[in-house]
Amino acid sequence: MRLTIFLLILCVFEYAVSVDHTKFKTCEQSSFCRRCRNVKPNNSKFALLPGTLNIYADSVTAELQHKINKHVFTLKIEALEQDNTFRLLVDEKTPLKSRYRVTDALKSAPKPGSIKVQEGDAEFTITSGANKAVVISDPFRIDFYQNDVLTVSVNAKGLMTFEHLRTKPAANDAADEITDYGAWEEKFNAHHDSKPYGPEAVALDFSFPEADVLFGIPEHADTFALKSTAGTDPYRLYNTDVFEYILDSKMALYGSVPVLYGHGTQRTAAVYWQNAAETWVDIDTAEKNVVSSIVNFVSGSRKTDAPAAHFMSESGIIDVFVLLGPSPLDTFKQYTSLTGTAPLPQMWTIAYHQSRWNYNNELDVAYVSRKFDEYDIPMDTMWMDIEHTDGKRYFTWDQYKFPNPLGMIKNLTAVGRHLVVIVDPHVKRDNHYFFHHDCTERGYYVKTRDGNDYEGWCWPGAASYTDFFNPEARAYYASQYLPANYKATTTDVMIWNDMNEPSVFNGPEVTMSKDVIHYGNWEHRDVHNLYGHMHALSTFEGLMGRDPNQRPFILTRSHFAGTQRYALIWTGDNMADWGHLQHSIKMCLTEAVAGFSFCGADVGGFFGNPNAELFERWYQTGAFLPFFRGHAHLETKRREPWVYGEKTRLIVREALRKRYSYLPLWYTMFYEHEVTGEPIMRPLLTHYPKDKEAFAIDNEFLLQDRLLVRPVIEQGVKKVNVYFPAIDDKSNGDVWYNIDTLKRFTNVGYESIPVESDTIPVFQRGGTIIPKKERIRRASTLMKNDPYTLVICLNREGKAEGTLYVDDEKSFDYRNGIHNYIKFNFENNKLDVNPIGKLKYKTPAWIERIVIAGLERVPKSATLIIDGVSQELEVLPHGEAIAIRKPGTSVQQIYNIRLNY
Ligand code: NOJ
Repeated sequence: MRLTIFLLILCVFEYAVSVDHTKFKTCEQSSFCRRCRNVKPNNSKFALLPGTLNIYADSVTAELQHKINKHVFTLKIEALEQDNTFRLLVDEKTPLKSRYRVTDALKSAPKPGSIKVQEGDAEFTITSGANKAVVISDPFRIDFYQNDVLTVSVNAKGLMTFEHLRTKPAANDAADEITDYGAWEEKFNAHHDSKPYGPEAVALDFSFPEADVLFGIPEHADTFALKSTAGTDPYRLYNTDVFEYILDSKMALYGSVPVLYGHGTQRTAAVYWQNAAETWVDIDTAEKNVVSSIVNFVSGSRKTDAPAAHFMSESGIIDVFVLLGPSPLDTFKQYTSLTGTAPLPQMWTIAYHQSRWNYNNELDVAYVSRKFDEYDIPMDTMWMDIEHTDGKRYFTWDQYKFPNPLGMIKNLTAVGRHLVVIVDPHVKRDNHYFFHHDCTERGYYVKTRDGNDYEGWCWPGAASYTDFFNPEARAYYASQYLPANYKATTTDVMIWNDMNEPSVFNGPEVTMSKDVIHYGNWEHRDVHNLYGHMHALSTFEGLMGRDPNQRPFILTRSHFAGTQRYALIWTGDNMADWGHLQHSIKMCLTEAVAGFSFCGADVGGFFGNPNAELFERWYQTGAFLPFFRGHAHLETKRREPWVYGEKTRLIVREALRKRYSYLPLWYTMFYEHEVTGEPIMRPLLTHYPKDKEAFAIDNEFLLQDRLLVRPVIEQGVKKVNVYFPAIDDKSNGDVWYNIDTLKRFTNVGYESIPVESDTIPVFQRGGTIIPKKERIRRASTLMKNDPYTLVICLNREGKAEGTLYVDDEKSFDYRNGIHNYIKFNFENNKLDVNPIGKLKYKTPAWIERIVIAGLERVPKSATLIIDGVSQELEVLPHGEAIAIRKPGTSVQQIYNIRLNY
């Protein structure tokens, strides 16, 4: 017992005071990474076996052989029914045991479409619509063409690896070609990995001849544009709880999404490497060599100096989707049509969340909620971190601090607010704890190699880990969310899944040993990056079971491709410094193109105490990121918005009020994200694909194509340089309007914008119409029926368009069409308002003001025409724009408004 307490204190202490690089492997310390990285280019050992090609209506298969060891692999290529996507699968023909295939990431099994195949002497060509895959026999390579342009090449560098499963050779057996000392067992620090199946790595390289920039593969605290890994470690994908993570680093973090994009002025493409084992990715973005490019061009040969990525995974199979774009949005959508989109969240979840580790007790929660009201600062949700539980036994309450949770929840809901509670995946090993008792009895834990329950250290001390890969364990876990089981909660309480990499304080690299066993007899090695995904899925099933007609809200730290269907993410334990504020944008941008539009960072920084300026700027930035939550470490000073005094309080209040005023836009964007799969937060290159200057910009971002956000993220500045991108390769750009002043900006390039402590430089694009609400209340739930304001910013042709989405903000009724989706069009001095589909959601909400910026002349009045009946409306000056007062139209009406001169 004493030892237990000592170890626990040690772990918590260690967790709370120092970063330790030595805890995490470098590529050189990992046998498979070393092996894959040592493969020499331009000498691929793989070739197609002659006479093995089989052509089917929707796929081809062939056999691949390793030319030295003669091992045979099966190759399958499909062109999917969905646009411009190929799938490529390589597995062993007769493996000693099955190799792991990821099945939980895709939203459904992709359907292969029909293809045509043409056989040549040394290659064959698969054609699907405007796309072509040319498969070259020896050395094995595949060139993917989109509209006859070579867009992605597979194994062009010849770095492919596929280590077949084998029996362990006798010591010093010269016949085995894998000689790395860590191939059959590995040690790292004090940890031993038994590696019973030996070497089983897979790797492949992908070249993007058309690309100028590569991006994707979150999660890393690094720039949006991926950097060359020559002379450094590769980017690592291995879900890990890294204490005080450092910036500008390729180290692994909590999530892994193995999708990588290549973008150039002419086209965009991507590869999704579907593998859940530890993965490293080398990036080769050496400047294109001008001389060799010219030679290639003249000789018509392939470019060998194209930006390239080399994916290396420890086990599993090769399962790759090649997405051929050609535009950035096409490519993003091709990825989300495979892995899914985030379902429309409830309105309150995109408002502001107040969290800290921890609010101490019920009185504290009541106090904080009351203070927000006292200072008239909007806030929707309070969060309960781990200290609310009875000794870190999840699904329970600490009876001293929280004797009456239902009363506390009721007090929050009475003022329109919500509660989120944390449920981690580690389970306290305490025989009196029902959850541990049941998991032990029923065999629901992850097991050690000898069949015992795996035990590690986490917040509760000795803990075991629910095996979410076991469907029965998942169902049991999900059922714990039923209010009948989860005592003192209601169906309005939502969930935070943390520490689910999984974090194991005393495990290798702060996680689970790779040789422990999951359901189906898979090693943890095979499924590591999917563990958090399965946790989030189980919680999602729990919340759906609890209330099938309420949209679940789940925050998860660990994530993989497809987790966005169940949960949103945040960037984990950042620090209260300017660099981390800057990285919140870079990291969420990368997550957004990898399917996670719903992303945020701890506002204020998790570790440390922000000064007032940083605190203010962080709220201003957070107000324009999709997930907006203030959160802080246990040992930080209190930092609710009023703690820093009046000036800061007012600045933060203003930022929060601004967020609330844009909630109708956010909600519309989230709806459109679910339906289209297009990200909400977007890098500039999405809409300005020809503007090279914009490719690597990651201190500003777009919200759809409507807002350009460049928050102040530098200390002490009096101005910021905002980049207004070009729509073509010359210098034509859009018109932009400052959202506060409606001042117009028409130049392309950097513009120096003066800033005060309350300025958030945000610009609405000319050509858009944005819905807002300007009566800010204490919680978004209380604003449901409030009237809307439309802000119309005209482009150079005097036109604009936009949408507004409205429903009950909570249930799934919208999926049965119970919603209003409205299209606004402004042209020739006239606004047309029309529904998209049927207007089926009954609401008293109406339009109270229409602001129009960019008119050449001020109109005398406006005429509203509904069903042929006209009514005059008053027009007033509104800063640099005009405002039409009180059109009074319902959001369920069809009408138009004409300006009169
Ligand atoms: C780690 C999480 O990242 C952090 O947000 C949380 O406060 C602590 N765990 C305690 O639960």
